[in-house]
Amino acid sequence: MIAAMSTNRVIGINNDLPWHLPDDFKFFQTKTKGHHVVMGRKNYESLPLKFRPLPNRINLIMTKNRDYQAENTHIFHSLENAIKYADIQGEEELFIIGGGEIYKLALSYADTIYLTEVNAYLNGHAYFPIFDKQAFKETLRSHHTRDERHHYSFDYVTYERN
Ligand SMILES: NC(=O)c1ccc[n+]([C@@H]2O[C@H](COP(=O)([O-])OP(=O)(O)OC[C@H]3O[C@@H](n4cnc5c(N)ncnc54)[C@H](OP(=O)(O)O)[C@@H]3O)[C@@H](O)[C@H]2O)c1
Repeated sequence: MIAAMSTNRVIGINNDLPWHLPDDFKFFQTKTKGHHVVMGRKNYESLPLKFRPLPNRINLIMTKNRDYQAENTHIFHSLENAIKYADIQGEEELFIIGGGEIYKLALSYADTIYLTEVNAYLNGHAYFPIFDKQAFKETLRSHHTRDERHHYSFDYVTYERN
């Protein structure tokens, strides 16, 4: 899973991101480039049109709506089928890219969580699920200071399942 959350676990507000953190966006692009990415229908529809589908990635969208269509994407109604599909395609690192409902659904399958911990308490509508820190070890933490391009400081953290 790859996500950015505030200190109080907020990941989104009004179907948008609560921040503009260009270096974290770059981190997301670099990590996920060339991979299958699984996202919720709401997350997909929150993307600006020019990033829909996310370029240079195979976009898998989760919806319960059997009639849902989106050009150049693959639609799934169960996470297990999405995972199976990526596996059959030879994917070695499938990324779950949110939002909140899909992170919650995927948590028990996650081997690695790339979590950008944004140092702020914010209002929001979507949250990153609480996960059992005992089940994961923190294998990397790298701090990014607040600067003129980044309104908040943050840490890139990697959690790997024990
Ligand atoms: N900070 C971050 O890292 C980050 C990353 C991604 C997104 N976000 C933010 O997160 C927010 C969106 O998150 P969200 O929780 O509202 O929505 P979401 O997880 O993106 O999408 C929810 C939708 O997924 C589908 N879904 C949920 N459970 C399903 C299941 N069991 N089987 C099949 N489909 C299922 C449903 O689509 P249907 O209604 O079509 O059935 C549901 O409405 C936005 O604000 C976005 O900006 C933040």
